[in-house]
Amino acid sequence: MPDSEQCKVLQELVDKYTTSFPPFTPSASSSRARGEFNGIVVLLSGSTGVFGSNILAKLAASPFVKRTYAVSRPSVNGLTVHERHARAFRREGISEALLNDGNVRFLDGDFSMEGFGMEARVFAKLQSTVTHIIHNGWQVNFNVPVEKFEANFRSVRKLVDFALHSQVNDDRPAKLIFISSLGVFRCVDPSDPNKVWPEERLVKPNSALETGYTEAKWVSEQILSEAASHTALQPTVVRIGQLVGGPNGYWSEREWFAALIKSSIFLGMLPDLPEILSWNTAPVAAQALLDMLNSSEPYLHLVHPKPVGWNVIISIFSRKLRVPVVPLDAWADALEHSHELALSNASQKSGTQSREVMRKAMQQNPALRMLVLFTHGRTTSRSKKGGKRTAYDSNAARTLGEGTRCIFDTQRSELTPDWWG
Ligand SMILES: NC(=O)c1ccc[n+]([C@@H]2O[C@H](COP(=O)([O-])OP(=O)(O)OC[C@H]3O[C@@H](n4cnc5c(N)ncnc54)[C@H](OP(=O)(O)O)[C@@H]3O)[C@@H](O)[C@H]2O)c1
Repeated sequence: MPDSEQCKVLQELVDKYTTSFPPFTPSASSSRARGEFNGIVVLLSGSTGVFGSNILAKLAASPFVKRTYAVSRPSVNGLTVHERHARAFRREGISEALLNDGNVRFLDGDFSMEGFGMEARVFAKLQSTVTHIIHNGWQVNFNVPVEKFEANFRSVRKLVDFALHSQVNDDRPAKLIFISSLGVFRCVDPSDPNKVWPEERLVKPNSALETGYTEAKWVSEQILSEAASHTALQPTVVRIGQLVGGPNGYWSEREWFAALIKSSIFLGMLPDLPEILSWNTAPVAAQALLDMLNSSEPYLHLVHPKPVGWNVIISIFSRKLRVPVVPLDAWADALEHSHELALSNASQKSGTQSREVMRKAMQQNPALRMLVLFTHGRTTSRSKKGGKRTAYDSNAARTLGEGTRCIFDTQRSELTPDWWG
């Protein structure tokens, strides 16, 4: 679809979720409710995920936060909401003792549903006590179009309405923090010396185009900016950059960088990328987010303040692993070659045996799972720029960063023999 058409689709989505905002109407019970906790009460979404579990840990440890309601969508695997959080904390290497902090309450709920799909009594309790909302839960999937994010848009809008109906403060609605992504700038060429990534509203969606995920973040940012323009709500959109391993260093090899390192050991070479890295660890980013809770800024970016070149990081890996750094082209060629080899080996088997060959190949060489995206970057850049490798490639690889995980997820659930070639 041409860009102009897609911009129209996105604007229509913004329009759909920005009609008839309710006015802020504090009730007479405000001051009574305020007295119950006498401090910050947070409603948090997505706390079973990488960032959310680290936010929850920081909230639980904060002396200023009197209560955190960690809301998760109802379980699909039979685990209770507490068990799912315990699993997330173990995965991240966060002390599970924090989960038993009396100030954390776990709730099943779905923000896209009326009354968050909760008992009316529970919903009313939230409305009369929550002072801050951190909306972090999101469908992190780069493989679906923006239309597949409707439930996420409904959630953003319902949280806006919830905040405007909150009954804690007489003079202002609950503070709403929305976790967005720096991916909304994905189409800005990182090599452009005049590039500007402003901490402000992006009135036009152009820089966010090409993946439903970033388009959806842009749409949600607009819903919040419109709410801020027409109501008493003062939301803060926090755009996050790349997050890396948790407190125990855990970084799933389903994520692009960990996969890249493991594959580089397999290939015997590490790629050189023209990248500037401003990564944060999830706990550091979570702590910084807590400092933003009372910000009056509408837009903030959460990235490392001292970026380093890719070579700084990769040379450490090179030294420790005794693997040379080679140009990205050479690395990608080697990856493609290993893919062809694996396919050829698999084709000599049939059925489950063939799949098993590919499964093992991807276990040893997990970057094979992001081959499509790397190849996309190479092909596009070559055809667009006459075969010269440019910063566009690294942009493609960077976007692939968050996207790779989704490919992995898709593969796990939707593997078909065709996919294997
Ligand atoms: N990790 C990064 O490098 C990075 C970079 C930029 C921005 N971000 C943003 O940071 C936030 C957290 O990312 P993450 O890396 O921690 O993701 P994650 O590990 O995939 O966690 C996402 C969380 O969102 C919830 N969730 C999943 N699908 C959902 C859906 N369809 N609707 C509503 N909630 C859903 C899940 O909670 P339940 O299933 O328990 O409800 C899960 O705990 C996201 O908003 C993401 O866009 C992350």
